[in-house]
Amino acid sequence: MYLLIPAAGSGRRMGSAWQSQGKAPRNKLLLQLQGKPLIAWTLLAAEASQSIRWIGMIGQPDDWEDFKQIIASLSLTKSVQFIRGGATRQESVYHGLQALPADAEQVLIHDGARCLATPDLFDRCSQASLTCLGFVAAVPVKDTIKVVDAHGVVESTPDRRQLWAAQTPQGFSVPLLKKCHAAGRSQGWEVTDDAALFEKCGLPVQIVEGEETNLKVTTPMDLAIADFILRQREG
Ligand code: CTP
Ligand code: MG
Repeated sequence: MYLLIPAAGSGRRMGSAWQSQGKAPRNKLLLQLQGKPLIAWTLLAAEASQSIRWIGMIGQPDDWEDFKQIIASLSLTKSVQFIRGGATRQESVYHGLQALPADAEQVLIHDGARCLATPDLFDRCSQASLTCLGFVAAVPVKDTIKVVDAHGVVESTPDRRQLWAAQTPQGFSVPLLKKCHAAGRSQGWEVTDDAALFEKCGLPVQIVEGEETNLKVTTPMDLAIADFILRQREG
């Protein structure tokens, strides 16, 4: 299985976490978490998965030197290719798709920021790709969700039994996802995950059971939660 890791963001919402580590703000994936950079945990899970054979790391050139050092320090057995990121996640994944080897029929896309995903989740997703053209790891929503208008007034309350929180990995047929990304570019669609492009093109996206701990480390509080979960796992 081929894996693309979008890692080309800047981590704007993580700002103050750098102060507490005594450094100037950078890509949040370089923040320390239980003695390793955040992205190292993501890479270790991919390394430990049985099914992943190739990793495409999508990053900004400014971070490549750091990423290379991290990869070297982990002694990964799987080959990692660097791919230049874009201005948005969508554009970064687009670049990643263009860089896939020609024989890649299926691809998993997993955010570098979801550093708590387990090797088992990667393998279950690889299994799903045998039967689904498109799928997304997701968990049932626990909160009651409100749809709110521009004035802060609730418009509606969707039935929670139909609501799932989307995570990554997300997996797709490579030729189909390439078509969806091309359509997105020509139509000017702006989306926050790849499944949304698949949906907009009228293609089916299956749910694969995700993991409650598979959070996207976005804010300093997420970093603290991730730290706690890793400490529990390691200890
Ligand atoms: N990402 C990317 N290219 C971008 C923007 C984001 O590859 N131009 C990646 C991030 O590195 C991250 C994932 O997409 O692994 C999810 O994005 P997010 O959590 O929003 O990370 P950032 O964009 O870095 O954070 P922020 O939005 O707070 O700036
Ligand atoms: Mg972002």
